[in-house]
Amino acid sequence: MVKTKIAVLVSGGGTNLQALIDAKKSGKIRDGEFVLVLSDKPEAYALTRAKENGIPTAVVQRKKGEAREIFEQAVLAELRESGAELIVLAGFMRILSEDFIKACPPIINIHPSLIPAFCGAGFYGLRVHEAALEYGVKVTGATVHFVNEIPDGGKIILQKAVDVLEGDTPQTLQRRVMEEAEWKLLPEAVEKVIGIIQKERNE
Ligand code: GAR
Repeated sequence: MVKTKIAVLVSGGGTNLQALIDAKKSGKIRDGEFVLVLSDKPEAYALTRAKENGIPTAVVQRKKGEAREIFEQAVLAELRESGAELIVLAGFMRILSEDFIKACPPIINIHPSLIPAFCGAGFYGLRVHEAALEYGVKVTGATVHFVNEIPDGGKIILQKAVDVLEGDTPQTLQRRVMEEAEWKLLPEAVEKVIGIIQKERNE
């Protein structure tokens, strides 16, 4: 079986990337291989995780005042060179343009809430959990979805609920959502989408 080539876009610590790497090692991701980890931040610890696991890395920074299009063209060039057939946004903190999305193979994203709650422009990272606590929801979770031109608006692939507990802080809630939902959901969704891509390839 020819493995589906996966590029992972990151901006931060990369615990979701680690979950993907671990899933590859344990055989939960069977039919995919990681060909690139690309970060828009040179200091992202996710890059270290990739290097430690022999995955090629690239850094593309958006310079101050630079048009988004220039940044996206540079990202696109890296993705094309890697041969990626599936793009995974794993803590990538930038909104991508419609033109970029249309020029790419399928893109999926992990978001730390139950979409359509606490999502869209301005909701990312810890802010999502701050908003959930502020609102007072008793259940939150994570969502993996296809990326389209609407921020966090693409078709949902998988979701998992997580309880909010008395005394939670944004940090404790973020950690529980990662442990109980994100790190399980993302590898599962990747394997599911690879199945769809490979089915289409064989038709
Ligand atoms: C994760 O919680 C991810 O769901 C979130 O950022 C964190 C990245 O952590 N993504 C978003 O908020 C995207 N809108 P990680 O770098 O340790 O994987």
